Amino acid sequence: RTPGHAPCRRRGSAGRSRSSCGESSPASPSARAGRCASPRGSASCSCGSWRRRRGPPAVRSPPGVPQPQYGLYAWPGAVVLAQYLWFHRAALPGRRVLELGAGVSLPGLVAAKCGAEVTLSDSEELPQCLENCRRSCLLNDLPHVPVIGLTWGRVSPELLSLAPVDIILGSDVFFEPKDFEDILTTVYYLMEKNPHAQFWTTYQVRSADWSIEALLCKWKLKNIHVPLQSFNADKEHLAGSSLPGRHTIEMMIISLAKSDGT
Ligand SMILES: C[S@@+](CC[C@H](N)C(=O)[O-])C[C@H]1O[C@@H](n2cnc3c(N)ncnc32)[C@H](O)[C@@H]1O
Repeated sequence: RTPGHAPCRRRGSAGRSRSSCGESSPASPSARAGRCASPRGSASCSCGSWRRRRGPPAVRSPPGVPQPQYGLYAWPGAVVLAQYLWFHRAALPGRRVLELGAGVSLPGLVAAKCGAEVTLSDSEELPQCLENCRRSCLLNDLPHVPVIGLTWGRVSPELLSLAPVDIILGSDVFFEPKDFEDILTTVYYLMEKNPHAQFWTTYQVRSADWSIEALLCKWKLKNIHVPLQSFNADKEHLAGSSLPGRHTIEMMIISLAKSDGT
């Protein structure tokens, strides 16, 4: 099962098959599924079509060890979430947006360019990632976008002092099952303070065994699946980026459930 829902909704079900070159990098969260989940262009992937393209360096580490490098390049889900924001850009001016696990921060920066009041965040334990967020802001002429350290599942002074939020963003934050509950704890905390808020999130399907459904129920949250076709994101190339490729990316919107669970 995918993080969000069952059964797994793959792009393949809409007539497209998923890439499977049969390799997995040592750091790959999909190692269990035996699929290659290296970022496209990664030197750790020798799948021909990927190798020809330029891309980020390989990340090699034991599974489960947090790697600051994860936030140092854009992931395919970021392009899909950015497309969702662009598709709904008319609704963004003045909306207060917080991006979690922002890394390169593509979705948050698109939201800021569209007129939203954006705050970017990444793990407070990964200063390199936070610095990278700041560099992304500068490179995109958005020097005033605040960048804060926010570690999932941790109640920190930064979390406690956050301004009200309308939209929480997270692209490819559900990549390590041990973190799923921490992410949802933070999201729940934010939604208790901002009951109207929504969590717009994309994730890459890496293992059919992963699910957040039980955690959503535990934390009184609900999710709806957003088909990629509904915002013109069911493409291998999006907005000039070939990152989505044949990765299976899904999008969901998480919000507070009512007392009857709906
Ligand atoms: C797979 S990357 C995705 C980065 C970016 N959102 C994108 O899609 O390009 C995961 C991101 O989560 C951040 N991260 C990892 N563990 C975290 C934690 N415990 N708290 C907050 N952020 C974390 C990483 O630093 C990284 O930026």
